[in-house]
Amino acid sequence: MRHLIDSLDLSVAETQEVLDLADRIAADPAAYAHCADGKILATLFYEPSTRTRLSFETAMLNLGGRTLGFAGAEQCSATKGETVADTARVVSCYADIIAMRHPKEGAPLRASMYSRIPVINAGDGGHNHPTQTMIDLLTIRQRKGHLDHLKIGFCGDLKFGRTVHSLVNSLVRYPGNEFYFISPEELKVPDYLVEDTLKPAKAPYHEVTSLEDTLPELDVLYMTRVQKERFFNEEDYIRLKDIYILDQEKLNLAKADMPVLHPLPRVDEIAPEVDADPRAAYFQQVLNGKFIRMALILSLLDLTDPRRDRPHSRRKGNGHLQTIGAGVQDPVGSFITIGKKSEIWLQGSDQN
Ligand code: CP
Repeated sequence: MRHLIDSLDLSVAETQEVLDLADRIAADPAAYAHCADGKILATLFYEPSTRTRLSFETAMLNLGGRTLGFAGAEQCSATKGETVADTARVVSCYADIIAMRHPKEGAPLRASMYSRIPVINAGDGGHNHPTQTMIDLLTIRQRKGHLDHLKIGFCGDLKFGRTVHSLVNSLVRYPGNEFYFISPEELKVPDYLVEDTLKPAKAPYHEVTSLEDTLPELDVLYMTRVQKERFFNEEDYIRLKDIYILDQEKLNLAKADMPVLHPLPRVDEIAPEVDADPRAAYFQQVLNGKFIRMALILSLLDLTDPRRDRPHSRRKGNGHLQTIGAGVQDPVGSFITIGKKSEIWLQGSDQN
């Protein structure tokens, strides 16, 4: 049984296999239309979402399967005090695979420990968003042709932006990548990302405040929204929310082939005029979301890839992919692939 909780649950080789599968699906979606006939995806979303939930659902529908779920904590028995652990046990009786989004870091990991079916982390608090990372990697690879030796700029809310944390964790595994973190002091990348990821990997990184000065250096720009829902103080949010706005004048400072990524939703940080620039890659990311989630459902359910006539995860001479994510038997607190905030939360009581 395999789960996807953290982008590092996939090795570099496994990540490449999923990206390759997503490319094959995109090239011939009809070939995959019945791969998941009879299978059911449960989308358990305790936080709002447009892209992630709908693309998971359309991914399963496009594979021939069906979906059920809820789109808000108020729509399920969490309001009555049911824990994530019990919810995972219950949904295991109804579905074949779970995609879970939750405002608390570590909640999908918690669910995976009690679930009898694969659990995919669809975003947990400010911590991780591994399926978005796969989308981002695929889009960068499509635009640049490779994932190594790139100068990548991350701009905006780098403190609460879980997509940034997941993507940096993945990109440090490719040689020669250099990171530029463009943010105000209050929204810098968390210390654990520096101490546990960047420094051990000896990845060069720069923490800067000026988008204009940094833009000419970059091969890839990853813009982010200031995450209003994670601020304790509305005054701080209002002060910081428009600190970086990418418009055409600023984009003119960048290289002609520098893709602009954004996980979306955007608020004001990318002016609509940029959408017409060929460097805008954020709607390409949205389309890739469907293909990546189709690829992940196939892989985690160990379904046959019609273009290979064998389960996607079965590797030549090496049996199945290694376990992805947490196993149900693992004791609480034994996980090493998840950031410190989640470990702390997981040591606590079994709350939803
Ligand atoms: N990128 C992303 O996670 O978007 P949603 O919040 O709409 O799912």
